[in-house]
Amino acid sequence: MKLRTIENLDVRGKYVLLRDDFNVQIVDGQITDPFRIEQSMPTINALRAAGARIAILAHRGRPKGTRNMEYTLQPIADYMGLKLIPDCLDKDFMADMNDGDVVLMENVRFYAGEEQNDPAFAAELARGFDIFVNDAFAVSHRAHASTVGVAEILPSYAGTLLASEIDHLSAVMENPKRPLLSIVAGSKVSTKIGVLKALAKLSDTLIIGGALGTTFNYATGGLVGNSLYEADQKDTALEILEFARANNCQVLLPLDKGVAKVFERDAIRTNKDFTQIEEDDIIIDAGEQTTERDVAAIRNAATVIWNGTVGMAEWQPTWSYGSFALANAIAEQTRAGKLESIVGGGDTVAALEACGLKDDITYVSTGGGAFLEFIEGRTLPGIAILEK
Ligand code: 3PG
Repeated sequence: MKLRTIENLDVRGKYVLLRDDFNVQIVDGQITDPFRIEQSMPTINALRAAGARIAILAHRGRPKGTRNMEYTLQPIADYMGLKLIPDCLDKDFMADMNDGDVVLMENVRFYAGEEQNDPAFAAELARGFDIFVNDAFAVSHRAHASTVGVAEILPSYAGTLLASEIDHLSAVMENPKRPLLSIVAGSKVSTKIGVLKALAKLSDTLIIGGALGTTFNYATGGLVGNSLYEADQKDTALEILEFARANNCQVLLPLDKGVAKVFERDAIRTNKDFTQIEEDDIIIDAGEQTTERDVAAIRNAATVIWNGTVGMAEWQPTWSYGSFALANAIAEQTRAGKLESIVGGGDTVAALEACGLKDDITYVSTGGGAFLEFIEGRTLPGIAILEK
C-alpha cells in the first residue's frame, strides 16, 4: 500500500489540519499512559520545523455528539503545553498564527456531524485550511468527518506515525518470519471472530487465552465454573477451531487457570485445571501449566503477534502472572534478536508498560480496533483515502 506522505511536502506558512488520536485514559485529570501522544510527536515536530501553522483535531471517549465536558481535551492540551481552542469549528485564532505555531482543537466528537461524516460538518472543519494530514492510525477504521470527510475536501497526506504503522503491520502480514505465533486474548469472541480467522489462516500456531479462551474451553467441553464466557458463541468457537485445522494452524487453548471464589483484586488465587474447576470458581488468569507451555511456544517462534491480555493484568501481582510471563518471554526473545514481535491493543500495551518492556518489542501499535481490523485485512477508510 503506497500512501501520500508528508515527506518533502512544502508546508511553510500553510494552514495544516492535523488529525491525531489522543484517545488516552485519564484518571483524576492525569493521563495514565501518554504513548499515543508521544508517538504523534514526530509528525507534529516535523510539520512545525517545516513552518506549518497546525491545528490538531482529536477525540476522546464517545460523547455522542454532545458537549460533555467529561471528555474535554483540556488535560491533553495541558500535558502537551498547547492552547486549547474550545470549539473545533472556530476559525478566529487562525489570523494570529505564525509559522510553526500549534493549537489543539476541542473534542471533535462534541458534534454529531463527526461520527455521521456529515459533508457540511466536514466542509466547516476544513474551511480555512490548505492541507489535511492524518496521523491517527488508531481511529482510521472509522469513516468520520475528521478522518474521511476532510480528506475528500483538502489535499490530504499520511503523517509519519500512520505511515510507519502501515509499513510495520503490512510487513508482518505479508512476509512473516516463521514459525509465526499469534496470541489473541481479551474478553469477547464476538469482537474477535474476524481477527481469529485471519490469524488462523496466517499463523503456524495460535494461542487463544483470557475470557476468550474460556469460551473456547466451554465450547470444547471444559468446566468453566462461574467465569466470564460467552455461551452463545459456542458454535462460532467450534467453527474457528475447524477453520484453523483446515488451514494447518495449531491452536493452543488454556490448560489450567488461576481461579478465585470472588472477582476481586485481593482474592486468594488457586491454580486449577479444567477437571478441578468448581461451580463457584471464577477464572481470573492463565494457569501455571498453560503459561509454561505458552512461554515455550514463544521461545520457539520467529514472529509473535500479540493482542489481548490473558488475565486481569492490571491486578498486580496476583492476577498479572500470565500476561507478564508472556510479556517477559516476548521481550527477552526480541532483545536476544531471535524474535520479531508485534503488539497491539490498549490493555496489552498497558501490560507491557507496567512491566517496563515496551521498548523491547519490535513494534508496538497505537491501534486497538484499527489494529485488529488491519490485521483482519479490512480496508480502513481513513487510510484508503490517502492511497496514491
Ligand atoms: C481507540 O481508542 O481505539 C480509537 O481512538 C477509536 O475509538 P472509538 O472506538 O471510540 O472509535
